[in-house]
Amino acid sequence: MDTVLLSDSAADIEKAAELIKNGQIVGIPTETVYGLGADASNEEAVRSIFAAKGRPADNPLIVHLADFSDAVNYTSGIPDLAFRLAERFCPGPLTIVLPKNDRIPMVTSGGLDTVGIRVPSHPVMHELIAVSGKPIAAPSANTSGYPSPTSAAHVMRDMNGKVAAVVDGGESQFGVESTVIAIESADTVRILRPGCVTREMLLEVCGDVIIDHAILNELAAGEKAASPGMKYKHYSPKADIIMVEGTIEAFTKFVSENEPEKTYSLIYNGDEKYFPYRFMTYGGDSLQQAHQLFSKLRELDDIGAEKVYVRAPSKDGVGLAVYNRLIRAAGFEVIRI
Ligand code: TXA
Ligand code: MG
Repeated sequence: MDTVLLSDSAADIEKAAELIKNGQIVGIPTETVYGLGADASNEEAVRSIFAAKGRPADNPLIVHLADFSDAVNYTSGIPDLAFRLAERFCPGPLTIVLPKNDRIPMVTSGGLDTVGIRVPSHPVMHELIAVSGKPIAAPSANTSGYPSPTSAAHVMRDMNGKVAAVVDGGESQFGVESTVIAIESADTVRILRPGCVTREMLLEVCGDVIIDHAILNELAAGEKAASPGMKYKHYSPKADIIMVEGTIEAFTKFVSENEPEKTYSLIYNGDEKYFPYRFMTYGGDSLQQAHQLFSKLRELDDIGAEKVYVRAPSKDGVGLAVYNRLIRAAGFEVIRI
């Protein structure tokens, strides 16, 4: 299959919408990361998403809608708290898990009776949903297990020949995937995957916000995952990633004692003035680190890095999302110094 690179012009969005209506898969830009989109109600199309990514069939896809009010068409019973959250955070980088109805096939929900609903704010993605008139199922557009794509070039790298088209909507604004939440009770939500809608922001609307144990910890053998995505290795470049938590002074000392000539380090902007070994920087604060993390992990592969020490990010605010991706990329290997 030839993969066509489309622009964000109205004519090209129309072409992409036509492909989606015809059951094809298209690489699509969102404000978080790029997705692989198809008609969520078309089982055949959804199966081809799983095939293109090499994704396990029990890992459900998020369904993207143009407006949260459309969620009533695909769910059964939306709690009042979900409407309040949507009013504050939709459109934007938030996915709310809700009970699904039978317009969402089991293939799309990975066999679950719930569905993650998201209303993206990216104007191109919004247009695409509106013009196609379809609910769009879209996982991140990476090969399963690899870091998510934040540019059309990343998607082309992973999916060329496997999808009908990729729409270039520029670099993703946030750079990490949406915050995924489940409604626990009338006033409480549980974060299943942290993102740029932070716990602090959710607390503006909810009485309590639980951070699921699996966000920072490896699931124990036999432990049930609150979200299937928690079970799988994720975000991993080819390089061996090792997280090192500590001040830049402690980090530098650690690297000096651990084969600096054979490794690369991923450090904060500003750290470089203290750091005499090979490095790349990934931002000076959590928002910048979220924005750059996946593209830096891909770049480290491009330059052939085999072993990478990453100076661990903060766990506050958006930092929790960055930390969550890195601890998975590192296979839960964290060195605290
Ligand atoms: O920002 C995003 O969310 C991006 C863009 C493209 O919208 N999409 C994305 O999809 O990251 P994906 O498939 O790569 O990750 C979805 C995560 C998975 O970990 C999955 O297990 C979880 O959300 N998830 C989806 N539906 C769920 C459900 N019904 N219950 C629990 N977890 C769910
Ligand atoms: Mg993903």
